[in-house]
Amino acid sequence: MPNILVVGSLNMDLVVQMPAIPRPGETLLGGRFASFPGGKGANQAVAAARLGSHVSMVGRVGGDPFGEQMLQILTEEGIDTRFIGIDPQNATGVALITVDAQGQNSISVASGANYHLTVEEVRQAWEQMLEVDLLVMPLETPIATIRAAAQIAKERRARVILNPAPAQDLDESLLRMIDVIVPNESETERLTGRTIKNQEDACQAGAELLKRGVSSALLTLGERGALLVEGSSEKPVFEHIPAFPVPVVDTTAAGDSFVGALATGLGEGLSLASAAHFASAAAALSVTRPGAQPSLPYRSEVEQFLREKGGML
Ligand code: RIB
Repeated sequence: MPNILVVGSLNMDLVVQMPAIPRPGETLLGGRFASFPGGKGANQAVAAARLGSHVSMVGRVGGDPFGEQMLQILTEEGIDTRFIGIDPQNATGVALITVDAQGQNSISVASGANYHLTVEEVRQAWEQMLEVDLLVMPLETPIATIRAAAQIAKERRARVILNPAPAQDLDESLLRMIDVIVPNESETERLTGRTIKNQEDACQAGAELLKRGVSSALLTLGERGALLVEGSSEKPVFEHIPAFPVPVVDTTAAGDSFVGALATGLGEGLSLASAAHFASAAAALSVTRPGAQPSLPYRSEVEQFLREKGGML
């Protein structure tokens, strides 16, 4: 069982199903409302736990009913929540999500307590953790906490997976500590300044990420699959990981499903390419269902899906 530590966000997702995502100034009627547990950090933690990893999480919720609910849900998922603090001054993170008829979404996040996570909380959690194989982080907590966690991971010889979402500029001192970066198309564009229109652009952007210091990059390209970039920055090696075509209901948390599965696969000793293949199957299953955490598949579901699709593990 791989030991995975997630340093990241917890949000309550308030979701409206709409025929289309409203344009600025537009009011649209017709949607169904639902609330789901979410937040990129919590989603990645749940994704890894459902696939068989032992997961601990460092984060912050508010002292409110959403926070209570989030903690209870993660505990029921078997996640170690001892290092999720309760912030009396700030509300639990909330994400307002609109999902259109094609399953695409737009997300507005009120970070609340997530953005008050401190470096000290991260340090204290690490001190109490016996073994960590992999550290997994999205970018919904302060960058200082991400940097501190990556530094400790390097000292403790844990591998670092960074999901640079939501997109922001990152300096090379941080990128050099990253073993695997997992950006989507727009995050890759933000990090490299290159527009991704085709596979060639993706290869160049991946090579650029290696030059900027990461050990390997796994670019997620939606229905075009993923691009794995490893090796030296002078001579990068590329491998295309195909996507599994599925009917799309809701793409929310597909990236989180991918990251949690990737961490589990790597923790179990799979190569990056095999772990990415496993992750691609988990992400495919997640887009066939609504919501963030409710959409994340269990191990048996991913294995059955791979058997049906003729994929390997
Ligand atoms: O990646 C999806 C997640 O992004 C949602 O669950 C929402 O909370 C935002 O953090």
